[in-house]
Amino acid sequence: MLDRRWLTNNGQYVQEFERRIGAFLGVKHCIAMCNATVAMEITARALGLREEVIVPSFTFIATAHALLWQGIAPVFCDVDPATHNLDPAKVEALITPRTTAIVGVHVWGRPCAIEELSEIAQRRGLKLLFDAAHGFACSRNGRMIGNFGAAEVFSFHATKFLNAFEGGAVTTNDDDLAARVRLMKNFGFAGYDTVIDIGTNGKMSEVSAAMGLTELEQMDEFVDANRLNYRAYQQCLGHIPGLRCIAYNEQERCNYQYVVIEVDDDQTRLARDDLLQVLHAENVFARRYFYPGCHRTKPYRSILPGVGRQLPHTERLCERVLTLPTGTSIQGTDIERICGILQTAVEHGDEVRRCIARRDVAGATE
Ligand SMILES: Cc1ncc(COP(=O)(O)O)c(C=O)c1O
Repeated sequence: MLDRRWLTNNGQYVQEFERRIGAFLGVKHCIAMCNATVAMEITARALGLREEVIVPSFTFIATAHALLWQGIAPVFCDVDPATHNLDPAKVEALITPRTTAIVGVHVWGRPCAIEELSEIAQRRGLKLLFDAAHGFACSRNGRMIGNFGAAEVFSFHATKFLNAFEGGAVTTNDDDLAARVRLMKNFGFAGYDTVIDIGTNGKMSEVSAAMGLTELEQMDEFVDANRLNYRAYQQCLGHIPGLRCIAYNEQERCNYQYVVIEVDDDQTRLARDDLLQVLHAENVFARRYFYPGCHRTKPYRSILPGVGRQLPHTERLCERVLTLPTGTSIQGTDIERICGILQTAVEHGDEVRRCIARRDVAGATE
């Protein structure tokens, strides 16, 4: 890249990255982008989305922001507590004459109800877009995520399964949509100095594409490491009442990027946030997700007051879900230690609660 002195603007690495991702997914078009948020904004615009779009609230804030940033109102829909993904039955009930699309999110890389959502979208004349930020290298009925709906959007942020520092991509089998997205992500340039449409800057740089290509070469090792970790956690956590590791469909391709547990505080007698405090105190960087839920963040809370009452499963998940460290830098011994901490905390729940209460009081009086 440095030798070629070609650092961005559709360089060779970006072109190769697009070719390789497209071939791996078996999709006709892959358009590399600077990140998934901008990719979502551009795709929403290229699809002509407006007015209301149905989305889950149990997602990263970018899914909702990408719409609102384009002047589109996100309409939050509840999820199926078994899959953590959009509940199609609830989607149908939210469709109004103002609805233009449904955005499904493949949370944790587990494909959402693609067939049911496609059927609803087709029958009700709506566009269907997927936020596939978590879904790279995952499949549904043997077909890779990236091929469904009008388009799918991937994230290649440093925290994602495939890391391009910052990066994203739109994939589609629709030639016209691909052409519009390509135009829009490059200021509307159709040639050297010919601008034919309004556009923005969604381009991926060469350094990100080079990083992404390097990661692609190691993808199988990442899956193996994640799968091993996931199974080790499943086994260790199986002994702790009230902690349940979510399941992946092992018949499909899966990136196993997230180790997700649901905390049933009736059994643990400790809240998810108590366990989080214990883990953080032991330098274990567990995270709650997608806390507090998009609908409870400031912008959406004021636009849609009281919408939480229609999202009982989302609200419950936002209070129960915890992700645990995984990836190639985590060893079996780390997993044993982390599970040991959780087990001790649950076994000594009353004591832990008393300690946390004392710390809260101390913190409040300092
Ligand atoms: C579900 C989901 N959608 C969208 C995004 C945004 O991705 P990016 O950081 O590439 O803009 C993320 C990133 O964390 C995400 O988890």
